[in-house]
Amino acid sequence: MDLQFENIGCVKDNMKSPIHNWYRFTAGFSYKFVDYLLSDLPKESVVYEPFAGCGTTLVSSQKNGFHSVGNEGQEFMYDICRAKLNWTVDRNKIDNHISLIKQAISDEYETYNLSDENPLLIELYDRNNLAILCIIRNYILSLKDESYKLFFKLALSNVLHRTAIHPIAVPYISRTRKLMNNGQPFEKFVSTCNKMVDDIKSQSTDYVSSQVFLHDSREKNALIETDSCSICITSPPYLNNLDYGEVSKVPTHFWGITNTWNDITSKVRINLVTGATTHYKETDFDINKYIKTPFATNNEKLIPQLLDMFDKIKINAQNRSGKKSFHILMMHYFSDMYNVLLEMRRVLKSDSKSYLILGDSAPYGVYIPTTQLLGEIAVSAGFNEYAIYKIRTRGTKWKSLSNRHNIELSENILELN
Ligand SMILES: C[S@@+](CC[C@H](N)C(=O)[O-])C[C@H]1O[C@@H](n2cnc3c(N)ncnc32)[C@H](O)[C@@H]1O
Repeated sequence: MDLQFENIGCVKDNMKSPIHNWYRFTAGFSYKFVDYLLSDLPKESVVYEPFAGCGTTLVSSQKNGFHSVGNEGQEFMYDICRAKLNWTVDRNKIDNHISLIKQAISDEYETYNLSDENPLLIELYDRNNLAILCIIRNYILSLKDESYKLFFKLALSNVLHRTAIHPIAVPYISRTRKLMNNGQPFEKFVSTCNKMVDDIKSQSTDYVSSQVFLHDSREKNALIETDSCSICITSPPYLNNLDYGEVSKVPTHFWGITNTWNDITSKVRINLVTGATTHYKETDFDINKYIKTPFATNNEKLIPQLLDMFDKIKINAQNRSGKKSFHILMMHYFSDMYNVLLEMRRVLKSDSKSYLILGDSAPYGVYIPTTQLLGEIAVSAGFNEYAIYKIRTRGTKWKSLSNRHNIELSENILELN
């Protein structure tokens, strides 16, 4: 594989590319990698993306005239993806809605009551701006036409990022940093809508539609046929990298999907691969039951290695103030990913290829060769073989932290055949 281009594992390129840049999402990878992989494929190939996120693979496939299917476990990100794939909106209708929204703002702004809004929103937005954002939101939620509702939802979610007092597109809201230009929500909303329409118009109109499902990729998606896809291009959650429920909590609170920490757990985290210690209850984990699960029995050779890392992390945790249960997280992560790989194997044709962008990790200083382990697990799930290509070294910016390990981590592409 020719990996001569930069930034595969980050969203830098996407921020300059129409449609890809409609929504700022912390996790993601370069659309150029998808374009590169698709450039060699026959046009009838179908692309599979089990972790759609903000849709890099699906949007690139649609731009290049390929049919693609994907799953996203979070309702909010699912809507973002659907909006990016929805290229049938009409400029005149958009303009009519914008006039009605302007009218709603002038009618309701003086008396708009923020007392029912989530306290996090009150804290993160100037009150006047928040009132305008909420009036626009209420108008959007009242729309019957799903296509325009999705379009405007994405536009307003984009504006949420550009009107917050502190940046919100980070793993955790960074209250030490301030956004200076955080005003003019309506004006930003209108210009975002106009840009989105222009971007759609710049695309070829005979596109082949891509499709995303609100679905947990650990389970069978009966709407995707067995042996139907030729390639998988994805980036799964990394072990102990991001809590995706936390990452999207400002927009999910704003759109009324969640309101509390418990909502994030019961409505968002529950449908996702276990990637952070916030996903489970420590006391629910029983190692004796775990080693009898289908994952453990089908991966007998790996279990001693996993148990060894499990014990080491657990011992190291005792000397750390947070005492986080990274050992349990790791066990959940690999068994979840086994289920994802089984479903991948089912939907992919036998001669297909898969590319997973992945990072390894070292919780409490215990190195976990995540990419290699997932390669082995993929073989147990029915893939023939795997190869690993390193794309960058990561984690070095934390070296100055005194309680942080100094193990060099990497980001890799796991290729499955
Ligand atoms: C690393 S991001 C994917 C980034 C994506 N490829 C992009 O470019 O935007 C992982 C995504 O997978 C989603 N996810 C995590 N577990 C999932 C699951 N079990 N099923 C479906 N989606 C899941 C998360 O909500 C998140 O949006």
